[in-house]
Amino acid sequence: MNEYTFEGYLELIENYLNNSIDKSCYDEEIVADAMRYSLQNGGKRIRPVLVLEFCRLCGGDIEKALPFAAAIEMIHTYSLIHDDLPCMDDDDMRRGKPSCHKKFGEEYALLAGDALLTLAFETLTNADLSDSQKVSAVKILSSYAGYQGMIGGQTVDLMSEDKVISLDRLRTMDNLKTGKLINCSAILGCIAANADENKRIAAEKFTSAIGLAFQIVDDILDVTSTADKLGKPIGSDNEKNKSTYVSILGLEKSREYAEELTKEAINALDCFENNTAFLKNLALKLLERDN
Ligand code: IPE
Ligand code: IPE
Ligand code: MG
Ligand code: MG
Ligand code: MG
Repeated sequence: MNEYTFEGYLELIENYLNNSIDKSCYDEEIVADAMRYSLQNGGKRIRPVLVLEFCRLCGGDIEKALPFAAAIEMIHTYSLIHDDLPCMDDDDMRRGKPSCHKKFGEEYALLAGDALLTLAFETLTNADLSDSQKVSAVKILSSYAGYQGMIGGQTVDLMSEDKVISLDRLRTMDNLKTGKLINCSAILGCIAANADENKRIAAEKFTSAIGLAFQIVDDILDVTSTADKLGKPIGSDNEKNKSTYVSILGLEKSREYAEELTKEAINALDCFENNTAFLKNLALKLLERDN
């Protein structure tokens, strides 16, 4: 089974995404332009890389999983466009550029997000996989991105502004708003490879732990990093009185918790007999990341 580097995966993903939005069938190109602006050449691409690596690890063909990888990145990008809107986090910068609504206006940013959400499902169906694999992918993606998943987390996030919330509620919020799309990425890779139930459970365990660690590090970087490095504003959580790991546990305890979760994630990989070095390195890299 071929092994890939992170850069190898990135090349496949960027190439696929760069060809994923056709010219519109009417005169105005503004929504398609806004979609391309936010989706193409941006972001760390952690989620699509997880789709491809879990597919490879479970013995699947990564070329066939590419539409699944692109779909999760479309959903993630739509979530960021909407997350930055003035009625949400009201952030003016994303991926090192003006946020979608700053560049195209709120109404077109809203539509670009909506259109990326629907394009994700259209894209999934292009995969050269069985109908039953594609139906499973639609079911997982729609539920993990929906009101019981990512949207649920965004709801708890908004409801928790200006409040001190319990650690349990914070965990629920982050497992939903960030964890679910990261879980979903690994599961989509498993579906593309027809992986058995044990592998799927291990994939979910691994990604639940790195997903929570990922949001904790995001909260830490909002306080300790710079806008130049992050490509998005710093201090945004504090400004909006958000409940975060840093606001509730403090920096040091947050950092320790993220380390603990990373160890937990690495242990969850024991059930894969194939090499898991890529995922171990990825978990550590995400813990140490500065953007
Ligand atoms: C940002 O996600 C939003 C969170 C869930 C913390 P990423 O840090 O993966 O953002 P990009 O895709 O690299 O821009
Ligand atoms: C974003 O969480 C989660 C989703 C977009 C679903 P944040 O609001 O912390 O993400 P950033 O910091 O703006 O990237
Ligand atoms: Mg937010
Ligand atoms: Mg935000
Ligand atoms: Mg954040």
